[in-house]
Amino acid sequence: MNIIGVEQLIYGSEDVAAATKYFEDWGLELLRKDSDGADFALPDRTSVHVRRIDDPALPAASVPGSTVREVVWGVKDSKALEAIGAELSRDREVTEDDDDDVLHTADELGYRIAFRVARRAFAPNALPEINTVGAPARIDARAAGALSHRARQLRISHVVFWAPGDLERAASFYTDRLGFRLTESVKGVGCFLRAGLSHDHHNLFLNSDGDKYGFQHAAFEVRDLDEVMMCGNHMEAQGWRSHLGPGRHVMGSNTYWYFWNPAGGVTEVSSDMDFITDDWEPKRHETVPGGGMGWTVRKEDEGLRPGHGTWPTLADAIAPGPAALAPVG
Ligand SMILES: [Fe+2]
Repeated sequence: MNIIGVEQLIYGSEDVAAATKYFEDWGLELLRKDSDGADFALPDRTSVHVRRIDDPALPAASVPGSTVREVVWGVKDSKALEAIGAELSRDREVTEDDDDDVLHTADELGYRIAFRVARRAFAPNALPEINTVGAPARIDARAAGALSHRARQLRISHVVFWAPGDLERAASFYTDRLGFRLTESVKGVGCFLRAGLSHDHHNLFLNSDGDKYGFQHAAFEVRDLDEVMMCGNHMEAQGWRSHLGPGRHVMGSNTYWYFWNPAGGVTEVSSDMDFITDDWEPKRHETVPGGGMGWTVRKEDEGLRPGHGTWPTLADAIAPGPAALAPVG
């Protein structure tokens, strides 16, 4: 279905001022803000939007409180957009904005999703030179990571939703109907899916943990581990609460640091995710490989995964989806 990746994230927040400050601290470029919301851009022209929780223009919430109200997926062209509309109209309501050609619908879990022709532009970036034993690349110069600076988020990497009930069915909506591909999965834990035109290890992770329901996290990518650390240090200095990290995942290999976000769920700052091609064989694991983490820094993170703690459950669901929500047997 020629989907490229996450194009826009639309949050409904109980505290617009805090959510706006959070994303400014996070390293997004602020385009506009007022008491009703704020708009942020990334260098590749993807975007993040915060709105008041009671904004009538927002899609329906899946759970109470601050949360992502819609994930907008960018598609290759108008032909691809038409094909998605035709496919999804077969069994669910698909509405179209007259003014900006956006298709809105819901997935099998009831999460609001949308599609639009991608407006993103390639934003070139390069790693600074790094010295290692026997192979110095940076000569007579100080390391870029030695000089403290505000990390700039370069792009949106992926989103994660809780997936109670029939995980296979929830995932097959994306693979069979929308052309996502399974990169790897862990029985009873979740499915890592990448969009058809993406090389990211995952753009969408459907994560199972009992009845937990709703949006969990959005991940953004910075240049490298130095910038993950600089972003996290800055967030803590501004008083934002760490959820997990810093550390490095096994599945996807990406470095991470997660923070609780007043706009909804948590956000992850990350770098160095696996680049996946058609040569990759999907992997199905019985248990989480390597314990899930290559390394962590903080003692208190031991044994924890992203999404630990208290979250809404199916009992809190405001608009559960059509199919995948049958109780786990
Ligand atoms: Fe993540």
